[in-house]
Amino acid sequence: MTVHGKAGLALGAFPTPLEAAPRLAETIGIDRLLIKREDLAGPALGGNKIRKLELLLADARAQGCDAVLTTAGLQSNLCRALAGVSARLGLHCALLLRGSRPNSVVGNLLLDELFGAEVRFLDVTDPWDPRARAALDALAEDLRRRGHRPYLIHLPGQSAALGVEAWARGAAELDAQFAAAGLDPDRLIVACGSGLTLAGLALGFKRSARRCRVTGISVQQPASRLKPWIVEAAGRVEAGPRLEAGDFDVVDGFVGPAYGVASPEAVAAVRLAARTEGLVLDPVYTGKAMAGLIAGARDGSIGAGEQVVFLHSGGLPGFFAQSALFADAPA
Ligand SMILES: Cc1ncc(COP(=O)(O)O)c(C=O)c1O
Repeated sequence: MTVHGKAGLALGAFPTPLEAAPRLAETIGIDRLLIKREDLAGPALGGNKIRKLELLLADARAQGCDAVLTTAGLQSNLCRALAGVSARLGLHCALLLRGSRPNSVVGNLLLDELFGAEVRFLDVTDPWDPRARAALDALAEDLRRRGHRPYLIHLPGQSAALGVEAWARGAAELDAQFAAAGLDPDRLIVACGSGLTLAGLALGFKRSARRCRVTGISVQQPASRLKPWIVEAAGRVEAGPRLEAGDFDVVDGFVGPAYGVASPEAVAAVRLAARTEGLVLDPVYTGKAMAGLIAGARDGSIGAGEQVVFLHSGGLPGFFAQSALFADAPA
């Protein structure tokens, strides 16, 4: 898909800040740590989906669509960002969430409803379950019957190429920030769900020949499944260099009990970032990625002399959705 030169909508507060985190760096034993504050991407509480939505919703508009729909988990950050941005653009947003409506509506789900999205529930757990795609197609048909022209966001559709391209541009933004600050980081750490953010970052650094190694900490799938998918997704962006499996790393071992379920290491990492830098991570994406960084610094797979960038990809509502985990904070 030719996405290279596509213009996006101006939705986010870009460039997002790149901040030093010296107290956290010292505590975990690395030379220098920088945090890319994508959590401040605004609107709708920001996060790594805003860049993707700038391109996706420009595409939706170009196709004359007046409604958007997608499917994801109950506490999806993508769904919340889509609902919030749709409210701002006057688009109808329909969400098909995996699971059943919980008794207490909190976190991202609360925000989905607050932003006025039409929320439906689907009783499947596996994101790749074909019933999810079938139900999404049925919802699109229902929207058409109601007079809408729907734009469907679902992996692995056209949204993959746009998502990768959005983050390749995010890599270019980082490149300019590194150059302006005289930095030459060795590594960038990012939470990996679908892997599209990593795919874009690694592709973008390859475009600019930046040597910064992108290391994804998987929060969902095994690396053996994620790596070929990331290469395939990056390959959907037709222009520029091809991303290869050797260009980036995906680290297993921090998924914890399951996708969307916190691990003790992630909870400890969230606490540490909060106490050293006043930084709020969430326990199922950025907390797991930070747990991966801390463990890498401890076992030496991330060298003590390295300059590391950590992508704070957002997910703040997920912290509040699981605030019970933090209720008995140690003194
Ligand atoms: C807060 C947060 N961080 C990271 C990710 C992972 O992004 P990707 O799916 O592009 O790998 C997600 C995805 O849902 C997310 O919500």
